[in-house]
Amino acid sequence: MYWSAHSEFPAEDLEPVARHLPGGRGRRAELEKAEDAQPVYHLLGGLEVDEECLQRARFLSAGGYAEVYSVASKSGSRAIAMKQLRGTVDFKHVQREVKVISHLPSSELVVKFHGYSIRGPHSRCQVSLFFELVDFGSLATLIPPRRDALASEMIRFIIHQVNQGLAFLHKFLVHHRDVKPGNVLVTQTGLCKLADFGLSKIAGGSTSQTHSNIGTGTQEYLAPEALETLRYSLSSDIWAMGCLFQWLLTGRGPFEEYRFPIFPMMKHMEALRSGIINFAGPPLPSAFQFPSDQAASYRSQCFTFDSKNRPKANVLLQHKYFDHLDREHESARFCQFLMGS
Ligand SMILES: Nc1ncnc2c1ncn2[C@@H]1O[C@H](COP(=O)(O)OP(=O)(O)OP(=O)(O)O)[C@@H](O)[C@H]1O
Ligand SMILES: [Mg+2]
Repeated sequence: MYWSAHSEFPAEDLEPVARHLPGGRGRRAELEKAEDAQPVYHLLGGLEVDEECLQRARFLSAGGYAEVYSVASKSGSRAIAMKQLRGTVDFKHVQREVKVISHLPSSELVVKFHGYSIRGPHSRCQVSLFFELVDFGSLATLIPPRRDALASEMIRFIIHQVNQGLAFLHKFLVHHRDVKPGNVLVTQTGLCKLADFGLSKIAGGSTSQTHSNIGTGTQEYLAPEALETLRYSLSSDIWAMGCLFQWLLTGRGPFEEYRFPIFPMMKHMEALRSGIINFAGPPLPSAFQFPSDQAASYRSQCFTFDSKNRPKANVLLQHKYFDHLDREHESARFCQFLMGS
């Protein structure tokens, strides 16, 4: 059984499914009980996926809380990415998040969301999320092998795109919650697309044991206010973007050198309390030199300690660091870099 495409999600996501099943509500109750129930698909934009498509799915990669596959749609005309979350989640929790991201208009700098499927009882269902397929790699896989060839102008070009992607999400009040190199997917044409926005919240409710996540992002990238209050704001994404920028500049993740033999969250809290993270943000390697004063200023703006004073994404786009950025030229250079030439 498959649930075919909608142009919009139904208002009451589960109700239409029950209506379309032989037996209506009674059948839904049955479905909820069934341990081996087939997945029910909610897909946008004319896409259709069924069990046969899944049997032909190609494994791409595994992350902290999901396995990612490439799946051809039923017509065979489109390949999409399927993220199969490990463990189970409460469907109500998922529903809230997917509703927000499914109503986003499209932007070339964010990975498009195509819908989801659920399987099993709603209180603990298995969830797969469908996205635009961007299978060239992420910043985390593409940059380190060629770091020596990464010119500072390319860093500026990359972070400008990430900043633009965030400004787009924030305009629609969508928190990313997990900005980091592995969540910036790169196309062969040099576009840097934000992936996994809002999803750490869903995955945080899963039973995954491996994800270094408190339900709101990767620990080392968490802003001080998010760590202290466990409440995440749009400004917390800006701090995480600062960490990503620092990773691009230095090749090192924030706090990489602070390998205290304790639970990482404690390590980060310890750094916060002891003032290692303070107005200046995560520590820089001792011999590090910024490519320009503007780059240093942009970084310190991202690491404004008080979240209320931290500049918004659209304000940061106007920072003088981005003055005279020749996008066409840098895009061509970045493509050459990606091709290893
Ligand atoms: N839309 C997509 N298209 C193609 N590949 C993808 C897509 N989304 C994710 N991937 C690939 O799958 C890998 C695993 O993704 P996933 O988001 O589960 O983990 P992650 O972001 O690397 O780490 P974490 O789980 O800690 O967030 C990514 O590194 C990326 O290479
Ligand atoms: Mg990811």
